[in-house]
Amino acid sequence: MKAVEVKNLYFKYNKEWILENINFILNDKEFLAIIGPNGGGKTTLLKLILGFLKPNKGEIKIYGKFPKQARKIIGYVPQHISFSIDIPITVFDIVLQGRLKKGKFFYSKIDKQKATEVLEKLHIYYLKDKRIKDLSGGERQKVLIARALVSEPKLLIMDEPTSAIDPRGQTEILDLIESLNVTRIVVSHDIKILLRKVDKIAYIHKKAIFHEGPKLNIPKDKHFCEIELINFLKDENCGI
Ligand SMILES: Nc1ncnc2c1ncn2[C@@H]1O[C@H](COP(=O)(O)OP(=O)(O)OP(=O)(O)O)[C@@H](O)[C@H]1O
Ligand SMILES: [Mg+2]
Repeated sequence: MKAVEVKNLYFKYNKEWILENINFILNDKEFLAIIGPNGGGKTTLLKLILGFLKPNKGEIKIYGKFPKQARKIIGYVPQHISFSIDIPITVFDIVLQGRLKKGKFFYSKIDKQKATEVLEKLHIYYLKDKRIKDLSGGERQKVLIARALVSEPKLLIMDEPTSAIDPRGQTEILDLIESLNVTRIVVSHDIKILLRKVDKIAYIHKKAIFHEGPKLNIPKDKHFCEIELINFLKDENCGI
């Protein structure tokens, strides 16, 4: 089953093309890692998939629907987190928001149970009564991941989910993402993501180069050189 289908996609903010002729299919439950330089267009591609931006040319389908119609089945963790500093809302409330649906104005026992479960899974249950404005950057990022997960999305989109998280937390988050049985798109500057069980890799720099998941077979505990990974990707240009 096709989860995400991007066909002949072009996008520009002003005059200059930011994305050119992007084509790919991501099947249900697959894990796509997106890497690439700053300004390459990774976040822009995610915003197009989410329906926050509209393509200039081409088409995007999410489980057969246009992005705007598919939004309720997508969980999104944005790259930049902006909270109005003064809002008194707690971590638990923020996570519960992930369970909000159109026309629903209260939370059920199940909603609260799910929120509790996901906070425990991310080892941040102890933060539940804290106000979001009092958290560190990494803690906030984990809370946003919890909010995305609690909606039980079919497609989970994360834009550098580990960038503000300490090394141990990063491993935990990546382990969690790897273990999830949903379709995942994760942008990362941490090339170690390629050692994970990713199904596809996209290197995005205006155009996209796709690779099938790494066949690197590097044991997780072995030292490896990032240059080797990058060279591997350059050599192995297997478009899909
Ligand atoms: N709202 C906007 N208006 C005009 N140009 C924009 C806008 N947002 C992004 N851009 C430009 O589009 C290009 C791609 O930006 P994008 O945020 O998608 O890159 P990125 O690959 O996510 O980079 P990073 O790794 O730094 O997060 C950049 O040159 C950026 O300056
Ligand atoms: Mg970005």
